[in-house]
Amino acid sequence: MYLGLDLGTSGVKALLIDADQRVIGSANGALSVSRPHSGWSEQAPADWLRATREAIAGLKAQFSAELSAVKGIGLSGHMHGATLLDKSGEVLRPCILWNDTRSYKQAAALDADPRFRALTGNIVFPGFTAPKLAWVKDNEPEIFAKVAKVLLPKDYLRFWLTGEYLSEMSDSAGTSWLDTGKRAWSPELLAATDLGQEHMPALVEGTDEAGRLRPDLAAEFGMGSGVVVAGGAGDNAASACGMGTVVEGNAFVSLGTSGVLFAANGSYLPKPESAVHAFCHALPNTWHQMGVILSATDALNWYSTISGKPAGDLTAELGDTLNAPSGVTFLPYLSGERTPHNDAEIRGAFIGLGHESSRAVLTQAVLEGVSFAIRDSLEALKSAGSSLSRVTAIGGGSRSRYWLASIATTLGIPVDIPADGDFGAAFGAARLGLIAATGADPVSVCSAPPTEASIEPVAALRDGYEAAYQRYRALYPAIKAL
Ligand code: XUL
Repeated sequence: MYLGLDLGTSGVKALLIDADQRVIGSANGALSVSRPHSGWSEQAPADWLRATREAIAGLKAQFSAELSAVKGIGLSGHMHGATLLDKSGEVLRPCILWNDTRSYKQAAALDADPRFRALTGNIVFPGFTAPKLAWVKDNEPEIFAKVAKVLLPKDYLRFWLTGEYLSEMSDSAGTSWLDTGKRAWSPELLAATDLGQEHMPALVEGTDEAGRLRPDLAAEFGMGSGVVVAGGAGDNAASACGMGTVVEGNAFVSLGTSGVLFAANGSYLPKPESAVHAFCHALPNTWHQMGVILSATDALNWYSTISGKPAGDLTAELGDTLNAPSGVTFLPYLSGERTPHNDAEIRGAFIGLGHESSRAVLTQAVLEGVSFAIRDSLEALKSAGSSLSRVTAIGGGSRSRYWLASIATTLGIPVDIPADGDFGAAFGAARLGLIAATGADPVSVCSAPPTEASIEPVAALRDGYEAAYQRYRALYPAIKAL
């Protein structure tokens, strides 16, 4: 048995698979985000441990015999978060999350130093880890002075599970301190933020062993001794391992809190000026590109809160048959945007409202706005050398066929829906746990699931969606100027 633990923004998921990769069961522990100021987004690391305990207890209630047979655990987590520890391993402040944009000034200053783009292959985005440390140094110097280790969220879970300070390449590539081509920390970039390698965990590949489960937690979880914990991956690379997006030509679109268009690459293909992320993949000697939008289901959830209707009811109200764009445009920049604009200060908008703009019309506009943002990422990925002929959809938002039809029509390529099952980040993490514990061949383990259905672009609506997308593109510079 192998356990995948995915530390997501809205909860921890624990998923158990057997040696044949059949899903035995899964359970969750809920998390929330604290937003004390506009642009801020934080979580207390202690809540991650509580939610992990809850998720594993949920599994144990149903599958205690299977849990006792676990040989390997894989970890996945939301990327880029700055978890700051003092020299005794105590947490110094709430973790500053991936969608927190408070450090945009520090990010711009680091990005102006040409060494960052040259070595990391990426823009220094405000959501990445290094500018967050620069913000802490500028605004909370007494905390910065005490920082002994900087850990990514899932690596803090590992520290709790194993007592080890370790990370792996895919998540570390999102810090702005990794030499992404060499797969090693850059002492030069660390020094540029007044840190050194001693502040960072040691690095392994995602498929390697990276610690063993502590005996006291093994006893609490009802597991045996010597359980291997794999390096694991950032949540997007972990999802890619779950979806078989590990070989050149394969791609997925993820509709989670964030929206991601992810393409596996056989080589390292940086193109920072496109705002495409070029990161190490979780498998040795592989890389990937992705475009990231900060609010995907987060945009729908926001609209659900203000309209007082559950998100599922809102999408159900649209039915499954794609409508032509209504003329109302939604810009989903609720927390600013990464690809392609790298703009922490921009905010969202509804444009083109009329008396006839009903709740359903606005829901449609929200789904379209996210689809158009993903099309922006497609154009950016194309310019950076990835070619995508189809994508597989994952994440909570992919339950809406309407949304998938809007994405297929906007991107002009088919969207595949995997056969019933759970192939997301927790499943990918469990696969990495299996590889680390058994030494199995990573590419054979990380195969693609069968496709249940493919959503084709709606040919009759292509022109209408193209025109609506061009209107969407024109709106960013227009509202930016305001
Ligand atoms: C990727 C990113 C998000 C988070 C949360 O760069 O910031 O996708 O990993 O899922």
